[in-house]
Amino acid sequence: MEKPMLKMTGISKSFNGIKVLDRVDFELRKGEVHALMGGNGAGKSTLMKILTGVYQCDVGNIELEEKLLSISEPNDAKKNGISMIFQEFSLVPTLTVAQNIFLNREPRTKRGFIDDQECVRRTKKLLEELNVPIDPNSPVEQLGVGYWQMTEIAKALSQDTKILIMDEPTSSLTKNETEILFEFIQKLKDKGISIIYISHRMDEIFRICDRMTIMRDGKRVLTEECTQLTMDVVIQHIIGGSLGKSFDWKERVYDRNREPLLRVKNLTSGSRVNGVSFEVHRGEILGIAGLMGSGRSEAVRALFGIDPIDEGEIWVDGKKTKISNSQDAIKAGLALVPEDRRVQGLVLDHSVKNNTLLPILSKVKKGWFIDDKKGDEIVEGFVRKLNIKTDDIFKQSGLLSGGNQQKIVLAKWLANSPDILILDEPTIGVDIGAKTEIMEIIREFADQGKAVILISSELPELLALSDRIIVFHGGKVTSEMNRKEIRSEEALQHAIQG
Ligand SMILES: Nc1ncnc2c1ncn2[C@@H]1O[C@H](COP(=O)(O)OP(=O)(O)OP(=O)(O)O)[C@@H](O)[C@H]1O
Ligand SMILES: [Mg+2]
Repeated sequence: MEKPMLKMTGISKSFNGIKVLDRVDFELRKGEVHALMGGNGAGKSTLMKILTGVYQCDVGNIELEEKLLSISEPNDAKKNGISMIFQEFSLVPTLTVAQNIFLNREPRTKRGFIDDQECVRRTKKLLEELNVPIDPNSPVEQLGVGYWQMTEIAKALSQDTKILIMDEPTSSLTKNETEILFEFIQKLKDKGISIIYISHRMDEIFRICDRMTIMRDGKRVLTEECTQLTMDVVIQHIIGGSLGKSFDWKERVYDRNREPLLRVKNLTSGSRVNGVSFEVHRGEILGIAGLMGSGRSEAVRALFGIDPIDEGEIWVDGKKTKISNSQDAIKAGLALVPEDRRVQGLVLDHSVKNNTLLPILSKVKKGWFIDDKKGDEIVEGFVRKLNIKTDDIFKQSGLLSGGNQQKIVLAKWLANSPDILILDEPTIGVDIGAKTEIMEIIREFADQGKAVILISSELPELLALSDRIIVFHGGKVTSEMNRKEIRSEEALQHAIQG
């Protein structure tokens, strides 16, 4: 048996007396891609933050190449060749690729000035070695997100990284960029670098990972070669049972002959939305497919009054409605669960309760006081329904795990019970169990005679939920299909590629 290069043994960690990691063992071999999996709040990010010195464990050992390490701050991890690519990028957008890679450790000339040329030369060499087609001199802000990530990785590698941790690296990447990342990961492996890969996307894991460790409720429940595992076994270990709900499409009934609840006519906004028209009926789930940058998110942002509408009309329930800002949109019965929820959707230092109740304060307010009992009941209902992992509803939202934060944003807009619910990538970052729950909630919502607009890049999800699908391309709607007419995922993929 090959000796592991990294060994974490008996790692435990509590926050405020609550155990988040319970005697976790984790081993990593040289040059392997090791998936770290588990439900939202299982403890994946926390375990990795201990490895990178962001947190310290209460008990446990970390050994690297048979040497005991003491990692008490991020620099200790870096010195030992352990780097993490965070979801929130740490690059400075206005600086060039080369400047970012050597930020704060720039090569100097003999006279002590920053040696820009040397910086560019070394970056060029590094990028060539990795076969990444980016210009060291281009400002990072001019690159696609995928290349931001590669710049981050190149930066990590320029510091002699042996272990690279990626926490949900593909959630903001297009399909193409994801492919580029995967090729890149293969190259890193060939160089003998070990990768710890966190993702909720099962297909990715099986494609690129060698082994997998699954955590549940702060404990390790399994470590195994991926080739020895089936999807069912993995799901079983992640959720501790079998999936209650399925991904199968069910034909739904609603009246398509009535006046649509929402009619969008020739909507134009900025350069990304060019004359978009569509309608949604009561009880209908309208899916929107398209590549990233096809104008899907921009169109719903304009519809919700975030971006200015340059041209076009919006009709709600047969009445022409003017939407100049989000207040107008909310008044007209719309709600938008945005794509970058962590930025747009939550006040991180407010409690779970306050975030959830934010849009409906007027409904739970009694005179000048918030009716606390009613508010608590509403929030606790959502915590149960969406299986939000939190100590209580008064916990600061920023301390919840990534996926659980996403669920709060969803709860917040569901609590407001809008007539028209717009969801932009609602299940990114949520675990497989919660995903099927959320899908069921969306169906129930539409069953009440309300309308849903669903943007999703996950075709199985789109196909499972939608009654009708429209496809965006270049800021326009280029095709429309009844769900019944769509034979396969490939057929939809074909329409999306245009
Ligand atoms: N600083 C903190 N203070 C209090 N609780 C915390 C803190 N950091 C993490 N937690 C708790 O630890 C648990 C594990 O969180 P962690 O972020 O490790 O989960 P995760 O497995 O990465 O989940 P996800 O898939 O949602 O990202 C959660 O219940 C979270 O609320
Ligand atoms: Mg996490």
